[in-house]
Amino acid sequence: MFRLDQPIIITIDGPAGTGKSSVSRALAQRLGLDFLDTGAMYRAAAAIALDRGLSLSEHGLILDAVTDAEIGFDWSLDPPALLVFGDVMGDRIRKPEVTGVVSAIAGIRELRELMVVRQREIARKHPRLVTEGRDQGSVVFPDARVKFYLDASPEVRAERRARQLAELGQVVDVGALRREIMARDQSDMQRVDGPLVRPAGALLIDTSHHTREQVIEELEAQVRRLAAALS
Ligand code: DC
Repeated sequence: MFRLDQPIIITIDGPAGTGKSSVSRALAQRLGLDFLDTGAMYRAAAAIALDRGLSLSEHGLILDAVTDAEIGFDWSLDPPALLVFGDVMGDRIRKPEVTGVVSAIAGIRELRELMVVRQREIARKHPRLVTEGRDQGSVVFPDARVKFYLDASPEVRAERRARQLAELGQVVDVGALRREIMARDQSDMQRVDGPLVRPAGALLIDTSHHTREQVIEELEAQVRRLAAALS
């Protein structure tokens, strides 16, 4: 039995540039659920490693530093703000220096294990949750009632990213962005622990030729259809 007013986990996985974060957040709002951005947790870990001047090979020290920092969220804000040492970390986690190392950081097995534990703890406290990332439906919440996998062509994803950066006043090279996106996909798909995969039972949504609104509508319709069919 599955009802939208009961505990429910909805996972949304997929590569960067599919609009995952923004549509996941909107879906959570429409359904009255909490929203968890697990990429932000890996980004925070990368920022902590950079701040400590740690090299990417110092797994033990990175793990200790991230454990000490007690990465969490302030759930009173919308979207929940990422906390490190109890302070809001803000935009820092989206800066190019963090984006440049986060995939390598996310490949550290012990760090992923820590994150999986943290994410499950969060879900125990926030049992009505839309959670997005790369391994949410496959590793962290394999029993989630609803799973989505969002995808889009590398060209479309690079153009979306270029538009976002141009809006921030940054000069962009779309070809370079496309290569960067494809390299990050490869790294996320090839790692041994928690690789980016389409989880068993996940509905595939190709967002290449859809607006953000259309994708949100589609996800909401699918969730409501499943809820009606199963209740
Ligand atoms: O979604 P994002 O771009 O903020 O994710 C940042 C990085 O973290 C990206 O390289 C993939 C990785 N990640 C991960 O390995 N597992 C997750 N559950 C979420 C993100």
